[in-house]
Amino acid sequence: MTVSPAIKTRKSVTVVDRPLLLLDWYDRHRRKLPWRPLPGGAIDPYRVWLSEIMLQQTGVQTVGPYFEKFLARWPSVADLGAASQDDVLRMWAGLGYYSRARNLHACAVAVLRDHGGAFPDTEAGLRTLPGIGPYTASAIAAIAFGRQCMPVDGNIERVVSRLYAVEEPLPKAKPRIQALATTLLAATRAGDSAQALMDLGSSICTPKKPACALCPINDECAARIRGDQESFPHKAAKKAGTLRKGAAFVVTRGHDLLVRTRAEKGLLGGMTEVPSSEWLADHDADAALRQAPALKGVRWHRKLGVVSHVFTHFPLELVVYTASVAARSRAPDGMRFVPVATLDDEALPNLMRKVIAHGLG
Ligand code: ADE
Repeated sequence: MTVSPAIKTRKSVTVVDRPLLLLDWYDRHRRKLPWRPLPGGAIDPYRVWLSEIMLQQTGVQTVGPYFEKFLARWPSVADLGAASQDDVLRMWAGLGYYSRARNLHACAVAVLRDHGGAFPDTEAGLRTLPGIGPYTASAIAAIAFGRQCMPVDGNIERVVSRLYAVEEPLPKAKPRIQALATTLLAATRAGDSAQALMDLGSSICTPKKPACALCPINDECAARIRGDQESFPHKAAKKAGTLRKGAAFVVTRGHDLLVRTRAEKGLLGGMTEVPSSEWLADHDADAALRQAPALKGVRWHRKLGVVSHVFTHFPLELVVYTASVAARSRAPDGMRFVPVATLDDEALPNLMRKVIAHGLG
């Protein structure tokens, strides 16, 4: 029988090297992801950074095609830094959380201007760049530069809280989980240690019905031994954001649609939208309609149903009013008509795609 170097017996005491067990498993079962080089391939910090920014609030499946698109258009940080912010925002449209796209561009510019085109190779150095917070700095430092850092995402939180049966609820348990996760770093290949835990969490140690029989560290798992693995991580009760409501106005002029650009700062900053009323918890339908764009002789039609959307901090419901205006109508101040056929070139957030589909449908 071959015995894994991860398991050693000394003086009849069995010592299990958890980091090594995880790496053994990762070498056999790692996911093939577009930003990961093939085993033994060279690691490009630009790809690592780009993927980590995209993955900040978005899943692996969604990110894949965006990552490929960005890389084809801007193969290096120098190419991205030389692009216009508008082009970057347009390419980002659909990924959500648009401040990430603005920071992505600002970061590429800063790497060129302040670091001679090379990403800093430490967690602290990376933290100085736009859009790189503690998690992302840790992930890039580990994956791109082999630093002894353990970035803890939701998957890793779940794996670690089960492995050690962490009773304390999230978010209070975060520092403890971070410390425990750090003990799972192999002395070399820190990035692979982190990604092994990410992959384990996404494929085996899933929130519901974890496939414990397939887990390389199942014999080590305190929660599994107790039999209550699905109950981890424990979570403090969460307050749902208050539902906000508003009205959106879909105005057509022949084949054109009336749009405007949102303020640079704040939610969906700098993105394109159809005009809408304020979004308020104590919504008043008449007050919302009074905020409709001022267009001569316009007659509003209320579309049946509502468009629902969930932002991180609150759910939103918009009623949609439609109108068509005469060919010579001019857009009110701060707004513009754009051909419906070119809407794909606009930085339209998902919410607005839904509103327009509802209004034109
Ligand atoms: N989520 C964030 N970073 C990731 C990575 N490098 N691999 C898989 N999932 C991730």
